[in-house]
Amino acid sequence: MKGRLPEAWIAELKAKVSLIDVARENLDLKKSGRRFTACCPFHAERTPSFSVNEKFFYCFGCKKTGDIIDFVRELQGLSFEETLQDLAERAGMKLPESLLSPQDQGAAQKLKTFSRLNLFAAKYYQSKLKEPVAAQANEYLKKRGINDDSVQIFQIGVTPPHSDGLAQHLIKSKAPLPEVLELGLIRKSQRNEGYYDQMRDRLVFPLVEPRGRVVGFAGRTLPSAEARGESGPKYLNSSESMIYKKSQYLYGLYQARPHIRAADRVVIVEGYMDVIGLHQVGIQYAVAVSGTTLTEDHLKQLLRITSNIVLLFDRDAAGENARIKAMELGLHMGLVLKSPLYEDKRDPDEFVLQDSSNIKILSDLLAAAEPVLDLEIERLRQETEGNMEARAQAVKRVGQWLKSYRDPVGQALRVKDWAKKWEIPPHLLKEFQLSEVVNAAPQRLTPKPSTAVRKSTGPISGQDHLLLLVFCRWDQFSALFSEARRKLPEKNTIADLWGDTRIAEWVRDIFRDPSGFERWRHAPELCVPGEGDEQFRGLILAALLDPEPKIDAPLAKSAIESAIRSSWARFSHQIKREIAAADERQDSETSAKLLQQYLDLQRKLKEIEISNEES
Ligand code: UTP
Ligand code: MN
Repeated sequence: MKGRLPEAWIAELKAKVSLIDVARENLDLKKSGRRFTACCPFHAERTPSFSVNEKFFYCFGCKKTGDIIDFVRELQGLSFEETLQDLAERAGMKLPESLLSPQDQGAAQKLKTFSRLNLFAAKYYQSKLKEPVAAQANEYLKKRGINDDSVQIFQIGVTPPHSDGLAQHLIKSKAPLPEVLELGLIRKSQRNEGYYDQMRDRLVFPLVEPRGRVVGFAGRTLPSAEARGESGPKYLNSSESMIYKKSQYLYGLYQARPHIRAADRVVIVEGYMDVIGLHQVGIQYAVAVSGTTLTEDHLKQLLRITSNIVLLFDRDAAGENARIKAMELGLHMGLVLKSPLYEDKRDPDEFVLQDSSNIKILSDLLAAAEPVLDLEIERLRQETEGNMEARAQAVKRVGQWLKSYRDPVGQALRVKDWAKKWEIPPHLLKEFQLSEVVNAAPQRLTPKPSTAVRKSTGPISGQDHLLLLVFCRWDQFSALFSEARRKLPEKNTIADLWGDTRIAEWVRDIFRDPSGFERWRHAPELCVPGEGDEQFRGLILAALLDPEPKIDAPLAKSAIESAIRSSWARFSHQIKREIAAADERQDSETSAKLLQQYLDLQRKLKEIEISNEES
């Protein structure tokens, strides 16, 4: 930034544009008292912890906070002056020239040049589609069932064969060649002084980003070139540049965005043509990744608009693989992606364009899409019926999926449900989680003094998190906690239900004296930890403010029972450590005493297991 910020100008801008309006365009806002809440656009989440009023936003989850300028800047990934530009345009205000530093101007200038050049090229490709040279291309579009509206909406164009047409056109218009070359629109000829076009004899799909800028191109071979055997790859995509990052780019999002919001659904397809074909028949909420796999960045962008994400991939081995990969990515983000029961061998665009009665069939299938996770678990169950070893492998696979699923509620519900359907004890599916908790305690061969404090640093386990959510519904579940206390090992308290020491310490603090407990009962928000460990503070806030009522009594009960078992496991682990320590001191008397205690404990643990299975 150069010079002072023109405060008055900024103030006027902020007065003219409402943060709530801008937020509403990008998020699914729900009114909550004087403020609005939504799922945070800056980190992946399923339960809304993002809160916004006329002036400021704050996310209880990721702690992001700021005003309208920060919001637009972060959300669109813009530079400061681009943000001001964007907002000024909205407010109908002129941007003060003096605002920009030379660096800002440099980067912004280059960005502007890049998108201007791409737009220039896009216009060129589009204009060619109207010339006689494009007869083949038009015929091909017709054959694929793409109409003129779609050609307009998706700005489809064409490049003639063996052409240096774009190169000539750019040179004639005195375009800056270094930038043109950097973008890869044209190449320098090896043989002479000239330049040639990167894309020749292809149908061209401009890659437009959500703000409407053209960031790159995809060119599809035409049958003529295919016939001559000189077609190269089916799709030629622009190389990555400052304005085009494949791992972040979603084809069709520009056109689909309002429809995704309206339908509260997005469908991810494999191909450019699928996006266009579906859009044409009224399924306008489709996007595609362009020549790469689905990434966390892609999903985060979509999550800003909807959490209802449906995968419609081809019914071949590659599509199936991509679907499972995407599902696994989703699980890591605490998301279940969905999939329709679409069995047709044709690509989605062909399916709907070849027979219009299929449009409704596909829309209905998309509306009824189910979590890929559950579809996959059921498929594995059916496939392994009667085959013991295959089933064992399948159970482990499912256990791993469930373990990686970063949504304690969704996870716990599935463990319960699927264990019943597979007719196996839940602990088989849960084993992965439980063993993780037990292993979290240091397992050293060299004995440690028994007074050593376990220190949690890593992420909080699903079990601990779920239990925290239950704890934060104290008015509902306090009786379960009183009961749990009686079932814990001697000297243990409710706080010991958690393996995570930060949570355990926090809970211990609450129960330290009667006034703390009274506070917890009547004004839990006063028990939120103070500034310091922002991440932990956010965790507690989120658990307290979580508006989802998904936790019912059976789920709460099973969460507490698992926690009780884990406390016993930790307790027994500790005795083992003490035995080792006594042995090393050659204190055989203590060692024997401890061993007896350990054996009693093991028996007791068995009883707990048995009584759990019986109940
Ligand atoms: P497909 O080969 O399934 O093509 O590639 P498609 O989308 O069905 O194309 P049409 O219907 O024959 O025109 C799926 C997607 O993979 C990327 C493109 O994004 C394409 O839409 N892809 C494919 C490439 O990037 N390069 C290629 O050479 C092929
Ligand atoms: Mn296709």
